[in-house]
Amino acid sequence: MARFTVLIVAAILAFLVAAPVPEVTAKKYLVGDKKFWNPYINYDTWVQGKHFYLGDWLYFVYYRDQHNILEVNKTDYERCISDHPIRNYTRGAGRDIVPLNVTKQYYLLDGRGGCFKGMKLTVTVEKLPPPPKSAPVKH
Ligand SMILES: *[C@@H]1O[C@H](CO)[C@@H](O)[C@H](O)[C@H]1NC(C)=O
Ligand SMILES: *[C@@H]1O[C@H](CO)[C@@H](O)[C@H](O)[C@H]1NC(C)=O
Ligand SMILES: *[C@@H]1O[C@H](CO)[C@@H](O)[C@H](O)[C@H]1NC(C)=O
Repeated sequence: MARFTVLIVAAILAFLVAAPVPEVTAKKYLVGDKKFWNPYINYDTWVQGKHFYLGDWLYFVYYRDQHNILEVNKTDYERCISDHPIRNYTRGAGRDIVPLNVTKQYYLLDGRGGCFKGMKLTVTVEKLPPPPKSAPVKH
């Protein structure tokens, strides 16, 4: 009986280990890293090499009396027009979160004059993180 129980437990454990457990990969990105959300920073460069997936977050830290964070459409993004934002993420404390909860391209900018000084950021949100790396492919 005891041996049988051990077998069952072993089988359950084997199943649990083998079952594909979705990884919790949601990431929170501090926009601009240590330079935060500020003028004269190239956010295209900051975005380079990063992949944004559904469920990730962008975290904006900035001087609350100087900047804000708005989502606009592509045309307005290119022209730095903030008169008709799609969404206003500004909460007032200079610490704002943009949840990347839709698979689309986000166009974000500072609507208080910083856009022309580089305070614009566009990210493409992809559906799912790639599966964990398997054994290297043989050449
Ligand atoms: C963006 O919004 C502006 C103003 O509402 C509009 O004129 C323009 O056509 C829109 N562009 C896109 C790509 O939707
Ligand atoms: C965005 O929302 C904040 C907080 O509600 C508000 O103070 C600010 O005027 C809004 N900005 C725009 C451009 O709608
Ligand atoms: C995405 O997040 C925004 C801001 O929190 C929220 O208003 C919106 O309903 C969310 N959309 C979806 C599809 O969850």
